Amino acid sequence: MTVAEMTIAATELTPLIGSRVDADIDTLLSGRHSQEIRALLSERGVLVFPGIAMTDEQQLAFTGTLGTIADENNGTIGPDGKPQSIYKVDAAQDDQHAIRRLRNNFLWHLDGSMHEVPILASILSAKRVAPVGGETEWANCCAAFAALPETEQQELEKLRVVHANWALAGRQNPEPSYAEFQQSRRGPSKSQPLVWKHASGRKSLVVGSTAAYVEGMDPLESQDLLVRLRDWATQSQFVYRHEWKVGDMVMWDNTATLHRALPYELNCGRLMHRTMLKGEESIA
Ligand SMILES: [Fe+2]
Repeated sequence: MTVAEMTIAATELTPLIGSRVDADIDTLLSGRHSQEIRALLSERGVLVFPGIAMTDEQQLAFTGTLGTIADENNGTIGPDGKPQSIYKVDAAQDDQHAIRRLRNNFLWHLDGSMHEVPILASILSAKRVAPVGGETEWANCCAAFAALPETEQQELEKLRVVHANWALAGRQNPEPSYAEFQQSRRGPSKSQPLVWKHASGRKSLVVGSTAAYVEGMDPLESQDLLVRLRDWATQSQFVYRHEWKVGDMVMWDNTATLHRALPYELNCGRLMHRTMLKGEESIA
């Protein structure tokens, strides 16, 4: 293949979120289109590479063409300090912690909402799919914010939300023992603006399963607002749902979307290989 033949083609999957990208692996690994792919990711939130079936090495290399592989990638780190293997998202482990993490994926969230700098993007490759359920959904939080009345946007921009491990834990275990609650309290917690004003000029809502309360607001009003905004942002016109086939690879802009997996039997063998791109800006 000549360099001139290395092209990518993008097709919108819904009006407000998601594009399908048709390109072959050599073209993607060449890095010739990294800037184009980054721009498309930012514009469309989710990029689907149907049936591309990259190996782990190819997925790591492709991720590396787009930015820095995140420390949160959690794969094995090699002697050169670079990730050697991919993080495996599955339930083939008799590990309560891993199972709880998988259940957390069933709730709308943004990865790293309690970090100073959340990851920029995640890339998932489907190795085995669930026989029933297990689709992934993404919601475009920029489009959701832009669709709010301007006066409300201005009010929301003044607010801060505490994101906390105890709030997330409470959704899985609503009646914890005191010892369990104490343990969840010791987990991370961070105050973040409700509206992320990105360096690019875009603005997005930061809500989801880790959002505990709006600072300085009456508890009932705070809960009312957080539920209303999460419900608003995840309306069908802002959402793309992917029904996985083995070999599909999907990449998403973690800074401007929420995502969740639809429920599936955790021991069904569903297996995703994940890489992540290091974040480049704090929520501000
Ligand atoms: Fe996630």
